[in-house]
Amino acid sequence: MTGRFIVFEGGEGSGKSTQAAILADRLDAVLTRQPGGTDIGAALRAILLDTGTVALAPRAEALLMAADRAQHAAELIRPALAAGRHVVCDRYTYSSVAYQGHGRGLDPHRVRDISAWATEELWPDLVVLLDVDPDAAATRLVRELDRFEQAGDEFHRAVRDGFLAQALAEPERWVVIDGTGTVDEVARAVWAAVEPVMESE
Ligand code: TYD
Repeated sequence: MTGRFIVFEGGEGSGKSTQAAILADRLDAVLTRQPGGTDIGAALRAILLDTGTVALAPRAEALLMAADRAQHAAELIRPALAAGRHVVCDRYTYSSVAYQGHGRGLDPHRVRDISAWATEELWPDLVVLLDVDPDAAATRLVRELDRFEQAGDEFHRAVRDGFLAQALAEPERWVVIDGTGTVDEVARAVWAAVEPVMESE
């Protein structure tokens, strides 16, 4: 039997990396992330997040995210699922739609199509959106900020709207969870959404 593929999405400081790790542990799943889940992805991630990368055009940014995703799907996600492992991924195509589409102003449908092609239409069984108001989330970011985290308030509000619009458009695949609770509260809400997916055929 192939494994289940669960994706976490959310803005900066939404707590999604913490929750992805908790869930992966519980499911004994492969835990991975975008950008950066492979060696090639790690090299792309360095370019994408470096605050010294000032001249990167939005379309180049979108294509590098899609390139990371293509490598990740081919090298890691598909083989793991085929081997019967569950995969928990911190960010996926929906981040490109929200950040490069809604945030940077590229056509969100085009951005989605590029990643659909890149992954050969590999879609997750469930997308968990941890929704947090960007102003509240900003107070959680205490370390040095990367290139995306440094983008302004307006950008992060557009990203949030981009995630919520995608959740509304595909409610059978998405669950939206209030990310402002404690780690335990959010983990319980995540499990309540994931458990039925694990049990379904
Ligand atoms: P990361 O450190 O993984 O952020 P976080 O801990 O908030 O998940 O950095 C990934 C950054 O890349 C994040 O700011 C969102 C951005 N991103 C995109 O803009 N498009 C994408 O397709 C992906 C996967 C990430």
